[in-house]
Amino acid sequence: MARATVLVVDDEPNILRTVRTALRTEGYEVETAEDGAAALERLSTRSYDVVLLDVQMPRIGGLEVLQRARAQGLETPVVMMSGHGTIETAVQATRLGARDFLEKPLSTEKLLLTLGHALEVTALKGRVKALERALGSTSALLGEGTAMRELRRVVARAASASAPVLITGERGTGKELVARAIHEGSKRAKHEMEKLNCAAVPQELIESELFGHEAGAFTGAVKMRKGRFERAHGSTLFLDEVGDMPAAMQAKLLRVLQEGEVERVGGAQTLKVDVRVVAATNRDLIADAASGRFRADLYDRLNVVTIRVPALRERKEDIAALVEHFLPASCEANDRARKQLTQGAMNLLLRYRFPGNVRELKNLVDRLVIVTEREVIDEDDLREALPPGSIDGATGGGRDGVYTPGTPLKDMLDAAERDLIMRALEHHKGNATHAARDLGLERSHFYKKMRSLGIRRPGAADDDEEQA
Ligand SMILES: Nc1ncnc2c1ncn2[C@@H]1O[C@H](COP(=O)(O)OP(=O)(O)OP(=O)(O)O)[C@@H](O)[C@H]1O
Ligand SMILES: [Mg+2]
Repeated sequence: MARATVLVVDDEPNILRTVRTALRTEGYEVETAEDGAAALERLSTRSYDVVLLDVQMPRIGGLEVLQRARAQGLETPVVMMSGHGTIETAVQATRLGARDFLEKPLSTEKLLLTLGHALEVTALKGRVKALERALGSTSALLGEGTAMRELRRVVARAASASAPVLITGERGTGKELVARAIHEGSKRAKHEMEKLNCAAVPQELIESELFGHEAGAFTGAVKMRKGRFERAHGSTLFLDEVGDMPAAMQAKLLRVLQEGEVERVGGAQTLKVDVRVVAATNRDLIADAASGRFRADLYDRLNVVTIRVPALRERKEDIAALVEHFLPASCEANDRARKQLTQGAMNLLLRYRFPGNVRELKNLVDRLVIVTEREVIDEDDLREALPPGSIDGATGGGRDGVYTPGTPLKDMLDAAERDLIMRALEHHKGNATHAARDLGLERSHFYKKMRSLGIRRPGAADDDEEQA
């Protein structure tokens, strides 16, 4: 491990000297500050692994230093020391975010032990963060239903190849997550994925965005600028909303895909690029290609592998798992105590169509967390948060078990079955045994069905054993 650096703050020169000697002997790199102002100055100019801070100092005391440093975003662990170590000071220091407390006169042994602990916690926190990042990137595509498992399988297979991928799906289904998963699962993952949203760039700038430009290529092109293709060399280029690319650009993109080389705007030189293109769209590109709105030959090039991300209403069995993931995260992010959804609320979610898919579910959870004051979110809270008439509506829009054009029969049957079972459960006030008998099903068979359809049993904590 690299040498840990410590900042020692005390107004007594003697203490600074002894602590410095003791810590240097142990291999620490030590800096000292003789008062609060000097400490704050140091802390704002460089970073330390740990700070040792005296409580009693003239002018700016240790607690105030701690408070100010934290307010400025200091995350370094701070160990307080005091000769008049009363409980109150210790408590106050802990509230302000001190990691530990040492009493004077200092024992060298205790000092080293405490600093060692503080550094260990920091190291562990760092590792947790790194692991979370790593996990977040591979398991970000949540959902244990058949559709999501199949999707993850296809994503993994696509990742190991180098062919272009076209990702289709409604808005908010997770197309960008899929693109990231492909990149991160590929041998290109050591580089950053480049991304360009083709719908967000003004038409006249898109060429320079993609291919870059030389200085003076056009008015405003003051400096040479590399394009996305060049920057994505050795990596993946994610072309989001590719269906909205202007026709002239489609032709140029096609050429790059065919030849693997780009030219900066205003440049004479051709640059070889090794870029894997992953494109996404929520448009129907087959129809667009048929009508001439999108180049058919470009479609063929992009569409070597197609991944269709299913709409959330086609995989309602994943809703509960997504809520269980989003809810605690949202409480944390919004600084709210942990909240829970009642089973009734959870089941009500299964009857909503989610036109905005996973993004809508995520936003809905955020809204519920912010608006609901109690720790339990129930059906009424949910009904209020959803668009009026979107559940039980006479339009059929919110009702399952109706014919939906373009939906596989199996999905419609699942939806109908889910709806009927939930109604039976409601009718029997959540008593699964009665509902099963009513429907003429074995109880174990009934539970199995509920599980596969993603239905949570109301009051699942009661005496009925669910593992059948
Ligand atoms: N399977 C999933 N597991 C966890 N989170 C998901 C999943 N699918 C989508 N999300 C989350 O939902 C939100 C929308 O996902 P994303 O941006 O990838 O969708 P999109 O299909 O690209 O949407 P749009 O078409 O609107 O651009 C993101 O916050 C994403 O993290
Ligand atoms: Mg997107």
